[in-house]
This record gives sequence, structure tokens and C-alpha cells, in this order.
Amino acid sequence: MALHKNVKRVTTHVLGAMKLKGEKIAMLTAYDYSFARLLDQAGIDVILVGDSASNVMAGYETTLPITLDHMIYHAASVVRAVNRALVVVDLPFGTYQGNSMGALASAIRIMKETGASAIKLEGGEEIIESVDRILSAGIPVMGHLGLTPQAIHKFGTYVVRATETDEAEKLKSDAKALAKSGCFGVVLEKIPAKLAGEVTRSVNIPTIGIGAGPEVDGQVLVLHDMLGITQEFSPRFLRRYHNLQMEIKGAVQNYIEDVRSKNFPNEKEQY
Ligand code: KIV
Repeated sequence: MALHKNVKRVTTHVLGAMKLKGEKIAMLTAYDYSFARLLDQAGIDVILVGDSASNVMAGYETTLPITLDHMIYHAASVVRAVNRALVVVDLPFGTYQGNSMGALASAIRIMKETGASAIKLEGGEEIIESVDRILSAGIPVMGHLGLTPQAIHKFGTYVVRATETDEAEKLKSDAKALAKSGCFGVVLEKIPAKLAGEVTRSVNIPTIGIGAGPEVDGQVLVLHDMLGITQEFSPRFLRRYHNLQMEIKGAVQNYIEDVRSKNFPNEKEQY
């Protein structure tokens, strides 16, 4: 029987077993109780409380402004909704790059104050000391390579990463370093599909792709993008499963119309 049908609670070990069995892992972001509840009930394997909350929840242009307190608020709301999925929380920009003791303190706050099961951070060799320190406290860590949005001011653009040999080689060695450290998985964002396939075959931990093609162990999308709530963002890799912004606007317009025309509330909708 498929593992995902069998487990009552998804753990990092379940994800490792899914990779071994060739079962794809389905991951989405969520930032609040109501959506997280729906995702969990629908059977999602992993919920990422991504720092994309900075964009889709708070309306900032980048992921940089969101704070650890904000992430803790979002993550605690998500954890209260979830019975089955593994909840992973992004360490926001500035809370782990300084030094490994600071990184550990940030990760501990997330684990203590939210009840989540794991943290995610962006980068390779340059953050390995922080990864090691967090892992040594028994906190599961997920890596994130390729397009790392917290470094957008260094990249200058959100175009596909690691198309040149040097960057591709560094990405492959970073993925191996993260796996060797003991990370339980790694997100590969917006890199060539062939490279993502090579990385996936070269490490013994699950790779989760976003704009990284099909040869990865799982896929992740930002919930508000795949539901069609956001409109401005339309990269090639994004499949929209709904046009919720149209449905929501339509429902709100119907409500406004009903209020204005005194059609709401009717006799049955009053005491
Ligand atoms: O913050 C986020 O939503 C992410 C995903 C894009 C992987 O890191």
C-alpha cells in the first residue's frame, strides 16, 4: 500500500521512505489556521509556513522584511489546524546568517513557540555551521538551493539559477553537503530540470522542486499562486488549479449588490 495512505502523521522519516519507494511528496505553503486545515484534510504531505508570507500575507515586495515574531504567529496558527501533515517553518532573513548560535536561538524559538516539526533555511556551504548547530539540538532541518529569494538583492533578478557550469557545480556540492550534515530534505527552486534530476539522484534525502522539473522527489507551490488568488505572479512553472480571485471578487460583488438593493438579509436570515 502507498505510504502516504498508510501514515497517520507525516514525519521526516516518512518522507525519506517515500523517496526510497519512489512515491512523490506533495507540499504547499500555508500561513493561517483555516487554509492549513483544508490542506491537511485534503491529504497534503508537507505544509511549509514559507517566508513567502512576507509577499502574499503582508504585501511586501520581497521576503526580507518578515520577522521571526511574524513567522511564529503564522506557524502557530498553522500548527493548531494540522493533524497529519509535517509542518516546516522558514527561518526568516537575518535570523540565521549572522552566526550559528543566533541561528540555533531562532530555530529553538520556532520549535518552542509554534509546535512545528522542522525548520527550513536558504543556502549551502556558507550556512553549514548553522545547519550543524541546529541539527545538534535535535531540530530537523530542510535546505533550500537554487533561487533563494532572501538573496534577491545579490542576484538582482528572479530568473532561473544555475544555468552556468560554476553555479551548477556549486549547487550539486551544496546539496551533498546539506545531505551529509543530516538535513532531511532540500528545496530546489527554479533551476534546470536536468540539474534537479542529477541532484536528486546524487543525494539520499528527498528533493522538493519548485520550477525544477519532474525528476525530483516532490513538488511545492505557493498556495495563493496555485489557487489563483495572486494575479501578478505568472512564472512558467506555476500551474494554477483555480481562479479563486475571480470567484472571491464575484461573491463579494454579489454581497455588495444584495446589501445595496436590500435583498440581504431576507426573512429567514433574521430573528
Ligand atoms: O517561502 C516559500 O514559500 C518557499 C517556497 C517557494 C519553497 O520557500
